[in-house]
Amino acid sequence: MKKFDILALGELNADLILNKVDGEPEIGKEKFAQDMILTLGSSTAIFAANIASLGANTAFVGMIGKDSFGDLVKSSLKSKGVDTSLLIETDKAATGATIVLNYNEDRAMVTYQGTMDMMSFADINKGVFSQTRHVHISSIFLQSGIKKDLTEILSYAKKMGVTTSLDTQWDPIEKWDFDYAHILPLVSVFIPNEKELLLLTASENLDEAIEKIRPYINTCVIKRGSKGSLLIQKDTKNDMPAFLNTEVVDAIGAGDSFNAGFIFQYIQGKSLIECQQFGNLTGAINTTAAGGTGAFSSKENIIQTAKEKFNQQIKL
Ligand SMILES: Nc1ncnc2c1ncn2[C@@H]1O[C@H](COP(=O)(O)OP(=O)(O)OP(=O)(O)O)[C@@H](O)[C@H]1O
Ligand SMILES: [Mg+2]
Repeated sequence: MKKFDILALGELNADLILNKVDGEPEIGKEKFAQDMILTLGSSTAIFAANIASLGANTAFVGMIGKDSFGDLVKSSLKSKGVDTSLLIETDKAATGATIVLNYNEDRAMVTYQGTMDMMSFADINKGVFSQTRHVHISSIFLQSGIKKDLTEILSYAKKMGVTTSLDTQWDPIEKWDFDYAHILPLVSVFIPNEKELLLLTASENLDEAIEKIRPYINTCVIKRGSKGSLLIQKDTKNDMPAFLNTEVVDAIGAGDSFNAGFIFQYIQGKSLIECQQFGNLTGAINTTAAGGTGAFSSKENIIQTAKEKFNQQIKL
């Protein structure tokens, strides 16, 4: 028996979310936002919090500073039931933060990376790989240490019999340096969104991107916002529409919540179609409340939202 179902490995930061902003930011001017939330940020943290809320035994390996944003991140993860005993605290940098200007279904963001850029494979106790069944990695372009060591980390996980998932997320410097031919064979489940996949593979359209990665993937799920998701394997493809939410509160973390739902079923050995359907559902549930974790406050709330908003009966 392994101690953890899931090890979320990656970046940690605080999110300062500004809602209902009077137009776009302009240099030399000041604008009002009508609403503000300070909360746990980071794609990997939202994934960890939500998969723990679904019922997976989850630990986080990440680096934080010895500061109030570090305390906020740690206590938020703890309150979501994520094991924080593997967090690395340093005084060499501050905990990162993202300022989010939220405009309906999309947003503008500025991130100070701080500690998230510092952690590398050398900082991680290798013993944790024998304590977990699955490792999830996200946001590699925000973490130069992890990105540099990605092949080594994935190879080590594979050697230890640990399954892996990877969501690269956006590249803020837009170089999209990603050696998919070498990395993807090491990844059990690759979960980019559509736009990211086109950029990661320098493709004009989705068909071209899929043909480029197909020889190298094990399983790939492409997230397509309100269009749902596309499951790709070496010789199959399954397009699944979204559980449409016509009253989206915000879409922050919808992709991370999709990842949480998909991987929650994946580690239980469910069929890939069931994983995809559950990912679509948790992605949709995410859009019913503010922020990335708002809709995942408890198992009861998740079950209730699935039933009331999307007419889905689920057991957790
Ligand atoms: N408006 C919506 N209604 C219902 N489901 C949605 C909606 N938006 C997103 N989803 C679901 O959530 C999944 C993930 O969303 P999306 O494609 O936006 O991911 P992403 O771009 O990676 O998001 P993120 O910005 O969180 O990284 C989609 O595949 C879909 O199933
Ligand atoms: Mg995403």
